[in-house]
Amino acid sequence: MSVYIAGTGSYLPERLLTNADLEKLVETSDEWIRVRTGIEERHLAAKDESTSDMARAAAERALKSAGITGADLSAIVVATSTADYTFPNTACLLQHSLGCGHILCYDLCAACSGLIYALETATSLMRANKKYRYVLVCGAEKLSGIVDWSDRNTCVLFGDGAGAFVLENRDGGEDKFPVSSLGADGTYSQTLILPAGGSRNPTSHETVDQRMHYIHMAGRETFKLAIKAMVESSNQVLTESGVSPDEVALVIPHQANRRIIQAVAQRLLVPPDRVFDNVNRYGNTSASSIGIAFDDAVRSGRLKRGDLVLLTAFGSGLTWGAMLLRY
Ligand code: ACO
Repeated sequence: MSVYIAGTGSYLPERLLTNADLEKLVETSDEWIRVRTGIEERHLAAKDESTSDMARAAAERALKSAGITGADLSAIVVATSTADYTFPNTACLLQHSLGCGHILCYDLCAACSGLIYALETATSLMRANKKYRYVLVCGAEKLSGIVDWSDRNTCVLFGDGAGAFVLENRDGGEDKFPVSSLGADGTYSQTLILPAGGSRNPTSHETVDQRMHYIHMAGRETFKLAIKAMVESSNQVLTESGVSPDEVALVIPHQANRRIIQAVAQRLLVPPDRVFDNVNRYGNTSASSIGIAFDDAVRSGRLKRGDLVLLTAFGSGLTWGAMLLRY
């Protein structure tokens, strides 16, 4: 059995927030944001638009490009840190809105590494059991709901959106997901955290007053850890697979910050034109970013069938991952 990417899709909400808009919210400048992050604008969900709404829009496009409908799916995995609810999970909401059967549905939280984690678990599930013929893997985030719009250290970085893959289990053929390297180090759990709303600090007037329901981040530390984690996991994948960097048609890194992307590319010895970068348009969309970037690369013709692609990401946890795949 071999798992194949049958279709991709993405969705960005309509509302745009530019750096000039942010200048009116906090003490920052377009120049500071561009130079330090590469971000120019990001999309924000409407007030009544949830993570599952965005996931559904991306999923519908992925299903269409795969030439199947929701009724053909045998499982749904949604990578997200901003689920509609603590429970039920977002995948169940998608199952209902896409008109699927009573299939396996689960959410997975590994922050910005979530989509790579979800691809790893979905492909493993599919290899283990051929009853999982078509699996929908989505990354979807409404980060605007957990961003502190008075904190200039974080509010300039994030955006909303969703990306989706339809995976197909085929009989025989080359394995399209040959090597991956995923990991985590909980020592750094406090480096990037949403402190309240869970069992450690249940929601109370006090947690709200102390702004504990927003992203708290040690930016400089995260920056260094991100580069190290993405470079090490990518190198491990390349070494294990025996693939040299120049055989990789496109590296699609998590889109957090252009300086991180460039530092990773330099250390991997991959020329800049083979590293996908759309962070200027969308900012950091966490678990969605690799899905959105992949779909952008497919639809713009940057990625062709048969191309070798290296995905790599890092996120809160600290989590990280790299994955080699053939499109
Ligand atoms: N506008 C203007 N000045 C700012 C802003 C802003 N938006 N934000 C911070 N500053 C100031 C700081 O206060 C600091 O001032 P000081 O020197 O007077 O204290 C100065 O700019 C420099 O701050 P640094 O933190 O050193 O800036 P740095 O070059 O590290 O860039 C950044 C900050 C962009 C946050 C960077 O550290 C970064 O990208 N880190 C990684 C963040 C990330 O990717 N997070 C997502 C992880 S994925 C996930 O799981 C969600």
